Amino acid sequence: MVKKILFVCLGNICRSPAAEAIFKQKIKDRDLENLFVVDSAGTGGWHVGNLADRRMREAALSRGIELTSRSRKIDDNDLYEFDHILVMDKDNLNAVKSLIKDNTYPINSKIKLILSYSKKSQLDEVPDPYYGGQNGFERVLDLLDEAIDELIDSLID
Ligand code: 4NP
Repeated sequence: MVKKILFVCLGNICRSPAAEAIFKQKIKDRDLENLFVVDSAGTGGWHVGNLADRRMREAALSRGIELTSRSRKIDDNDLYEFDHILVMDKDNLNAVKSLIKDNTYPINSKIKLILSYSKKSQLDEVPDPYYGGQNGFERVLDLLDEAIDELIDSLID
C-alpha cells in the first residue's frame, strides 16, 4: 500500500519544501519511490504559487538536492488525504490541528513533529530560518536529513 506523506511549515517556502525534496531524494536512493506519495504545504498563504526561498534552494542544491515545488496552503482535505502529516514546529502543529472539524475520524494521531523521529537532535522543533542568516538554512537541512532517515526507517518497518 502506498503511504501518503505531507510535510508542513508556515510559509511552505523554506522548511517543508526542503523536507519534501530530501524525502524524495532518499526514497529514490533507496529504491523505495513506488511506496510513497510525498507533498508539502504551508499553514499560511502569503507565498502561494512561489518556488522555495532562493537561500534554501541554493543551500539544498549545494548538497545535490533540487527544490522544485511551489508553495500551497494546507486545507482540511489534506487531513483525510494524507496518512502522515509531519510538521516543523508547535505553531504548525496547533494550526494543523485547528483544521480538524470531525472528531470522530482519527486525524490527531497522523500529525507529528518531524523531530520526534530524530534520535540525535535535542530540539523538538525545526527553527524557522526565514529571518536569519545562511547558517540557519544549513541547520534546517542537517536536522531534516537525520530525522527523515529515521522517518523512512519507521515507515518501511
Ligand atoms: P517556512 O519559513 O515556514 O519554513 O517556509 C517561512 C517563510 C516565510 C515566512 C515565515 C517563515 N514569512 O513570514 O513570510
